[in-house]
Amino acid sequence: MSDDKEFSSSRRRFLGGAALATGALAAGRLAHAQAGPDPLITEMQPWQQYLGDGVDARPYGMPSQYEAHVVRRNVEWLTADSVSSVNFTPLHEMEGIITPNGLCFERHHSGIAEIDPGMHRLMINGLVDNPLVFTMEDIMRFPRENRTYFLECAANTGMEWRGAQLNGVQFTHGMIHNVVYTGVPLRLLLEEAGVQTNAAWILPEGADASAMTRSIPLEKALDDCLVATHMNGERLRPEQGYPIRLVVPGWEGNMWVKWLRRIEVGDQPWHHREETSKYTDLLEHGEARRFTWVMDAKSVITNPSPQAPITHGPGPTVITGVAWSGRGTIPRVDVTLDGGVNWHQARMSGPSLDKSMHRFYYEFDWDGRPLLLQSRAIDSTGYVQPTKDQLREFRGENSIYHNNGIQTWAIDESGRAENVEVG
Ligand code: MTE
Ligand code: CO
Repeated sequence: MSDDKEFSSSRRRFLGGAALATGALAAGRLAHAQAGPDPLITEMQPWQQYLGDGVDARPYGMPSQYEAHVVRRNVEWLTADSVSSVNFTPLHEMEGIITPNGLCFERHHSGIAEIDPGMHRLMINGLVDNPLVFTMEDIMRFPRENRTYFLECAANTGMEWRGAQLNGVQFTHGMIHNVVYTGVPLRLLLEEAGVQTNAAWILPEGADASAMTRSIPLEKALDDCLVATHMNGERLRPEQGYPIRLVVPGWEGNMWVKWLRRIEVGDQPWHHREETSKYTDLLEHGEARRFTWVMDAKSVITNPSPQAPITHGPGPTVITGVAWSGRGTIPRVDVTLDGGVNWHQARMSGPSLDKSMHRFYYEFDWDGRPLLLQSRAIDSTGYVQPTKDQLREFRGENSIYHNNGIQTWAIDESGRAENVEVG
């Protein structure tokens, strides 16, 4: 009896609170009022009664067993085999701006090269005064820098060009990660070799079985590229190019050659070997968009989204997502609840770093009616993330690469989210 009374009065309090203006959080609205004895409070739980693992049990720590679902995932039908394939970062399970090393999506053309760093070398040859070979120890004798950058595959969101396809932000937007790199500025290694005056391009090459290469303008190489040895404070993971990878800030992921073994300096871009070029983003573009390296501003709501529905019902609700631009920072993100009729400025939280992921939030009081959620990033150059229709108008129906269009999630009364497009 008294339980019921407690419950109904707390429920009244909750509903009363819901009438308040958005933003003014009344005391007691967001937790359960004490409705009676709760065994999770009144009873001793197993973990309170027995000793736990000691400090020797977990020499390299892993997430809680209750987070085992937070993993990279593959979409089997997307590619013919797992060696030349891709998996996706679980963006809907993440917070802040840094991608943990074990969750960074992987894109390999010929699988992961497992390299003994003692047997790895970096060669710089071509239009240089002194062709050089560096050991990994040599590289650690150059001054190094720490910088945070996103890496986005140019094919990210590529399946969504013609219309809504994949039902989850992990699959529509998960070919991206954001990492603190420690690395040697490529400029210092090139200066050590002495770049000749007629040089204009570099050709980094990977040591994996695909021997992946990409032509990169020398200007970019001398500006902000890094030869990275570490990610998020530890050595690069084998999946991400251990022992060294090229970091090409703000530019498409394909250029960030992993397992970097050679850099050739030349005076013009290379014609890429057929067996690698058929996979590279560059040559699959029409001629008009041949050199489209920068990743334009983009954002997406990560929660709620199809893999992360609203389960708590109406009332105070947190929307969050990420935004990034290959041209600078993201000072502002707007969020709409009604498919673009009304836009609200989101709250940015966390470091705002050049060519890095940004985190945004929008808190509101959900009335339980269907929503059409979208986010729109505006970068530090003033560029505004376009709608998918605006992109298609400009680039046609048949593109795959560089889809930075606005994403829509439809939320129904039960809180379920679906990938849709609104006109
Ligand atoms: N480098 C080598 N050597 N081999 C590769 O297959 N894939 C490229 C690039 N560098 C690749 C590579 C592509 S297409 C992308 S999108 C990024 O690496 C992916 O980097 P990641 O695996 O760290 O996510
Ligand atoms: Co790629």
